[in-house]
Amino acid sequence: MTQVLSPDEIATAAALLRDGACVAFPTETVYGLGADATDDAAVAGIFAAKDRPRFNPLIVHVPDAKSAWRLVDPTPEARKLAQAHWPGPLSLVLPLKADTGLSDLVTAGLGTLAVRVPAHPLAVALLRLVGRPVAAPSANPSGKISPTTAAHVTEALAGRIAAVLDGGACDVGLESSIFGGNPMALLRPGGVTLDDAEVALGRPVTTAAHSGTQPLAPGQLASHYAPEAAIKLDVTRRESVPHLGFGPGPADINLSERANLTEAATCLFAALRDMDALAAQAGASYFTVSPIPSEGLGLAIRDRLTRAAAPRL
Ligand code: TXA
Ligand code: MG
Repeated sequence: MTQVLSPDEIATAAALLRDGACVAFPTETVYGLGADATDDAAVAGIFAAKDRPRFNPLIVHVPDAKSAWRLVDPTPEARKLAQAHWPGPLSLVLPLKADTGLSDLVTAGLGTLAVRVPAHPLAVALLRLVGRPVAAPSANPSGKISPTTAAHVTEALAGRIAAVLDGGACDVGLESSIFGGNPMALLRPGGVTLDDAEVALGRPVTTAAHSGTQPLAPGQLASHYAPEAAIKLDVTRRESVPHLGFGPGPADINLSERANLTEAATCLFAALRDMDALAAQAGASYFTVSPIPSEGLGLAIRDRLTRAAAPRL
């Protein structure tokens, strides 16, 4: 049985985490599936619940930058990004310190660690109550659409995790941006845009170059966020299948009629779920999506849509 906990039951969620259980909790980006990052068995529970490949490392969540710098060595640029965007939808991949007590499963044996200070008040309160770093990937089965409500979490993971702390719908709707390297480069587009990073660092910032076939972040597999139906992107002419719109014009669901990227990001994952259901109802093997501009948050939205549309593994 998976308990659904209300915000005033946060102490129960913290106690379960301290006991080594897996508990899903809200962040401002998406719901995370948390476990005590210092407990091997607890972290193994995340991989089991999600069917996540063991080579894919986890982001560790802490309540403030000071706690993060106990686990990793920040570069001057990392400090600047953290200063500007923590708490918030930013993860930093940095050299792991020695003797942190973290489970090796968290880093998948890499010498680096991804850390994040979330902004959601329930997440911060939970992290403070747990008093230990909490590893948390998005709370969805590996390869599927990320959850932005507690109901999304229980739909897929009920019976596989101890509890979900219900904090309502997530504000940002897309996962955190991941930056890493020295100089800092973007490893995964997300809630903090390249423009935001350029302002914080006072220099142009780029997406990290791929080295051969290695994905930038090991979890950035081509097929991800996959609904059951196939997806056709950048469609301007309606076909006889359900259509996901952006901007004015006919659509079965619209990410943002006024073509606002922030609004589109917030509802993207819920819309993908609903489009999947519409396609199934209509007996369509795919649905179509309007073009999304590649600027600001559009880069992250396009990244998720491209992965959702990629051929399945
Ligand atoms: O917004 C978010 O970041 C959410 C919430 C729950 O915080 N979490 C999240 O976690 O999106 P997950 O596991 O779905 O994505 C983590 C990504 C993966 O692509 C993983 O490969 C990458 O971070 N990652 C983790 N540690 C890394 C490392 N040391 N180096 C490079 N990439 C890393
Ligand atoms: Mg994920």
